[in-house]
Amino acid sequence: MDMMTRIAALTADCLASTWPDAEGLPAAEEIRGLLAVPPDPNMGDYAFPVFRLAKALRMAPPKIAQTLADAWKDENIARVEAVNGYLNFFLNRLNFARETLNTVLLAGDQYGASDIGAGKTVCLDYSSINIAKRFSVGHLSTTMLGHSLKRIYDFLGYTTVGINHLGDWGTQFGKMLCAYKMWGNEADVEKGGVNELLRLYVKFHEEAEKDPSLDDQGRAWFKKIEDNDEEAMRLFSWFKELTLRDTAKVYDLLGVTFDSYAGESFYIDKMAPVIDDLRAKGLLTISEGASVVDLSEDDMPPCLILRSDGASLYHTRDLAAAIYRQNTYHFDKCLYVVAYQQDLHFRQLFRVLEKMGYEWAKNCVHVSFGMISFEGQALSTRKGNIIYLEDLLEQAIQKSLAIIEEKSPNLPNKEEVARQVGIGAVVYADLSNNRIKDIDFSWDRALNFDGETGPYVQYTHARCCSVLRKAAELSLPEADLSALEDDEAQALLRLLSRFPDVIREAADRYEPSMITRAVTDIAQAYNKFYYEHRILGDDLAATAARVALTRATRNVIKRGLWLVGIEAPERM
Ligand code: ARG
Repeated sequence: MDMMTRIAALTADCLASTWPDAEGLPAAEEIRGLLAVPPDPNMGDYAFPVFRLAKALRMAPPKIAQTLADAWKDENIARVEAVNGYLNFFLNRLNFARETLNTVLLAGDQYGASDIGAGKTVCLDYSSINIAKRFSVGHLSTTMLGHSLKRIYDFLGYTTVGINHLGDWGTQFGKMLCAYKMWGNEADVEKGGVNELLRLYVKFHEEAEKDPSLDDQGRAWFKKIEDNDEEAMRLFSWFKELTLRDTAKVYDLLGVTFDSYAGESFYIDKMAPVIDDLRAKGLLTISEGASVVDLSEDDMPPCLILRSDGASLYHTRDLAAAIYRQNTYHFDKCLYVVAYQQDLHFRQLFRVLEKMGYEWAKNCVHVSFGMISFEGQALSTRKGNIIYLEDLLEQAIQKSLAIIEEKSPNLPNKEEVARQVGIGAVVYADLSNNRIKDIDFSWDRALNFDGETGPYVQYTHARCCSVLRKAAELSLPEADLSALEDDEAQALLRLLSRFPDVIREAADRYEPSMITRAVTDIAQAYNKFYYEHRILGDDLAATAARVALTRATRNVIKRGLWLVGIEAPERM
């Protein structure tokens, strides 16, 4: 239990025993929410404002605070002071240091892990790239948010299923096949990959302007895909393979993996029963020849299920996918990590599932996020401002390498570290703000070793590792933990003690940025501690204590970075 939860529980007890007959007193949980960390350490390590109790106790706040201060007792609290309606708690710093370090170091790399998710399954739909398109920066956030959430849920004991719901169905693939048959050849496509497919696709549109009959041919090719025609399927699978080969490089660089690549086409033969069910439940209506689910009662446009020519739509495939996932994985939660532009799509989807009578529809969550722009420029396919993720990552690695060459020319594995730092800079920039906020990516900001950045946190981790390497050469006596009673060490310990709560809250809110924030705060607190105190000093018992705190910090930063998908080099 962390210190705030504990103080809250003890305060609740104290209230109940001091005023056994009072009604409407806050429970421990509410008290926990009211506890604050005062900006000035002279006001205590934690403060509890008692104003909320005045009504229930019919007593003035200063009097309440004084009564509580007199009644409070706990070996972890050195003293409790009543000041202007606040109850200020001063920790027994020695006990706090001992307890925190024991907890963190005993747990090792499992500090913050939990089994609250045991027996529960979370499906995560993320990255979900489109076939025959290159992996652009537009798909970075879904990829990294999903990857991080998967790690967070794993660490909390859930069973997770990572799904890359490939965009591999639609009439555009008929046009692409048609274009390939007319102007493409195997060697060029093998060599050029997705770029060559895109070239053919663009050519198709240019030619179709002049000769509209091409569109009919495109449709005919799509019909062949729908009918499982041998040649069409062979080519289509090959295009898919090419795209996945292309994106595999990016996934490798980012360390991202999936448990399933079941995309839209996977559900084509699973839609009929869903459509029958919709019809049987009386949910389908015909509108201008199309079959739709009316959602006017919910103030939403109708959900399109079948076009007038009988073709399925994005929603139809997503309905089949959700039902398939429930039947296959029996998920307790299904997260869709998709940009906010698709808000309406998911609200409609979940509402239709609800109308079909699926109780579990309430466990489907759209984890939406904002847009990413680049050095102040919006990224847009239409305006031709596209940045390919592979290029961005390669550039980040090169830029990091240049910085490392300058800062630490003698580093043994510079290339490897440059990769970790370059990728870390990009991922950190992506996961450092509330996900719903739009992000502007800037090189200067992302690669600044002194700002709130990936490299800064990684550098602090490497600093801890360096301290530990040097300490390993000393023979240290038992630690004297009174060396950790100063403000800097205590601030750091406080952050470390809160880490398990942060992970749980990040999971509850689908917000990896809370972990990014926590590791940044820890890195800053460690550096402050590092500059104010000699870690490896003459007093060996004090040194042992500071080294133990360094080890705890190193463990937590490493785990925190891992949870957001960033590697932690030991030397930089
Ligand atoms: N492929 C879509 C896109 O790139 C995202 C798919 C999201 N997942 C889903 N089940 N609809 O926009």
